[in-house]
Amino acid sequence: MKDQPTIKWGIIGLGAIAHLFAKELQLVKGAELVAVASRSKDNAIAFAANYHCKKTYDSYEDIMNDTTIDILYIATPHDSHAELSIKALEKNKHVLCEKPIALDYKDAEKMIAASRKHNKFFMEAFWTRFNPSFRAAFAKIKKGEIGEIRYINADFAFCANDKEKNRLFDLKLGGGSLMDIGVYPLFLAYTILGVPDSILAKSNFHSSGVDSQTAMILNYKDAQAVLYSGISHTSDMIATISGTEGQINLNKTWHMAESFTMIKKEKETNYDLPTNGMGYTYEIEECHQCLRNNAIESQLWSHQNSLELIQLVDKVKNQIGLDFSI
Ligand SMILES: NC(=O)c1ccc[n+]([C@@H]2O[C@H](COP(=O)([O-])OP(=O)(O)OC[C@H]3O[C@@H](n4cnc5c(N)ncnc54)[C@H](OP(=O)(O)O)[C@@H]3O)[C@@H](O)[C@H]2O)c1
Repeated sequence: MKDQPTIKWGIIGLGAIAHLFAKELQLVKGAELVAVASRSKDNAIAFAANYHCKKTYDSYEDIMNDTTIDILYIATPHDSHAELSIKALEKNKHVLCEKPIALDYKDAEKMIAASRKHNKFFMEAFWTRFNPSFRAAFAKIKKGEIGEIRYINADFAFCANDKEKNRLFDLKLGGGSLMDIGVYPLFLAYTILGVPDSILAKSNFHSSGVDSQTAMILNYKDAQAVLYSGISHTSDMIATISGTEGQINLNKTWHMAESFTMIKKEKETNYDLPTNGMGYTYEIEECHQCLRNNAIESQLWSHQNSLELIQLVDKVKNQIGLDFSI
């Protein structure tokens, strides 16, 4: 088979996730990191040297004018996802933007409108959607192997350091557990059960104003999802999906699982699906496939999926009284 042309990537915002992503780009055939942009020249140069990247920019605007780039990966804090994605799309770049897509539904709608207007690919980087264990478990659930789904239990928690300057504790940057990691359990319930009939949510808050822990109940006609996010402690992070004929556990750490377990009539079956790298490789491959098919959205994590997910986040924010515009 003929080799496909290389897809040329640029990265904006060179923090923690940008490093992981750049490492995983190296694992994907046909991906090349051609340019990176940081607010700091030194950071850009040091980052580029680590990942054999030739071009650096010390301005987010300048990288958008680089015509050698096919797709820009936006890896900045949540509050700038909308502005940077829209600018990049206007500059005729395809865009992969980190989760959460934006601070709210209103901004997310504008991002997707820009993708459609400029006919450029846009996807929220919801990497769990492309995780092999999640995909295989999801296929079994869809086929009805554990019957009708009645209950989902999922959490995401880790102990974050609030002493140093950390975006997680900065309200202006959209900090807190809900936006950063609460979106994962919400993603799981939404993907499996769809949009709930109602949501109940309750949070505790850090002194900076961000939510430090948020508990959520999503209610459906015949099912409930009990979800949680926290940044003041750790948790096991095993997600459970229970149906009328069995149960599936996405094993620790569920959002990047390398195995899942199906339990039916007390018989446990393990499915081991080790990931290539940490698993960002799969969302990168999905972007490549979409670009090669001239698609402006993924069928697996579509524009509508991102819009419906951020709508759920907005509903939780309303319930817990979290407002980033203050
Ligand atoms: N998919 C995942 O598994 C995953 C994991 C972690 C985070 N994320 C998402 O990725 C985004 C970035 O998270 P991160 O953990 O990489 O954050 P981080 O380590 O703080 O890095 C963010 C980078 O964005 C740039 N930036 C631009 N404006 C900024 C501002 N006002 N304050 C701080 N940094 C600013 C900085 O890069 P320069 O100085 O180089 O310009 C900074 O290094 C978040 O939206 C988060 O939800 C996703």
